Amino acid sequence: MPHLKVEPFKTEELDRLIAEEEWLHFRAVPESAAPVELLGVEFEGEPFLLEIKKRPEATVLRADKISRPLDVGRIKRCLAALAEKAGWKILHSNIEESAQRPPLAAEAEKSIRDFESMRFPMEKVALEVGFGSGRHLLWQAERHPDTLFIGVEIHTPSAQQVLRQIRLRGLQNVWVVNYDARLLLEMLPSNLLEALYVHFPVPWDKKPHRRVISDAFVEEALRALRPGAVLELRTDSENYYRYALEVFSRPPKSDFRVEKNRDLPVVSKYEARWRRMEKNIYTLSLRALEASSPRQADFDFTFHEPVTYDSIRMVPSKPVVEENFFVHFGRAYRFSDDSGGIVECSFGSFDRPEHKYLIYRDKEPLRYFPERPVATATNARAHQKIGAIVYGR
Ligand SMILES: C[S@@+](CC[C@H](N)C(=O)[O-])C[C@H]1O[C@@H](n2cnc3c(N)ncnc32)[C@H](O)[C@@H]1O
Repeated sequence: MPHLKVEPFKTEELDRLIAEEEWLHFRAVPESAAPVELLGVEFEGEPFLLEIKKRPEATVLRADKISRPLDVGRIKRCLAALAEKAGWKILHSNIEESAQRPPLAAEAEKSIRDFESMRFPMEKVALEVGFGSGRHLLWQAERHPDTLFIGVEIHTPSAQQVLRQIRLRGLQNVWVVNYDARLLLEMLPSNLLEALYVHFPVPWDKKPHRRVISDAFVEEALRALRPGAVLELRTDSENYYRYALEVFSRPPKSDFRVEKNRDLPVVSKYEARWRRMEKNIYTLSLRALEASSPRQADFDFTFHEPVTYDSIRMVPSKPVVEENFFVHFGRAYRFSDDSGGIVECSFGSFDRPEHKYLIYRDKEPLRYFPERPVATATNARAHQKIGAIVYGR
């Protein structure tokens, strides 16, 4: 990840720059003794935080984990612009933009939030979950220019690599979402998908609750598939195969079939490895038989009132655990101009939590940073709880 190591400087000096530069919003100082400050920026239209780690021999700046942009080039350009404005002496950096690396296809990158009010530009839409190197996704997109292929991948470097490929190949019908597929699926309208591919998901033999395929996932998949469309699962794991058989046999209004060692014209890196090892490959195709009713999507994630510093200081430091969700407040920071502050907050369902910040300021309602949570029913319940805690209700 891009970072900048500069000669130690007084971080208070940044306050003058914040007053001058519109894209620098605030400096936040931890309430605890931790030697890490945060700088709030909005660079090239994207809000995120830079972490400033103070060490005796050097100060290190990098994008913070929760809010960092997918486009690494944007982080590099932001750090370079800041170093130039501040006139720091750079001791080490990796922010030179590589001339050889093609840029990402920015128009193909979609954020999970985009799906809250998405208009799909093509009539046919397919989804691939965990596309990895993207061989299958790109192959499908090249062969079916009349279909929009949405690829969702939780691993950021894989998403970036495929965004480069999309640009190199000039594909106009692929979108990439760097997020948890289980949440994206919940965001899709009912009866949308022509196909849903889940090829070689991680088997998670020791932590089955982390598997992509679950009763909840299949229920959402059947809702998002149009009648007659298929969820295609391919796996080399006997364990996962048996587990999926059970899960697929439960939901009503669906049927499924199983094929052993069916070849596809395109072979992913994983599949090639299993084939060399002569492992069996199972394909399970689960078909939606009936149309589903529309999904509920009118969740409200706004807070309506300001929060005082005192209420923020009173939030519990331990996780608040309810039946289907939790809320956990993390490290708290105060803005250097004393107008408010920012608090880490994780919440939502146990297996796919949201990680955000909450910003509070005098006279302004509390808000999420860098953006509000994904609109799911579980997040909506967690949001209610956050409100109840900070407003003391
Ligand atoms: C074993 S790889 C298979 C990759 C690819 N489908 C193939 O056949 O080569 C599993 C992929 O799923 C991704 N993945 C795991 N959990 C995910 C989730 N919840 N949402 C999206 N992607 C996920 C991983 O990052 C990884 O790239």
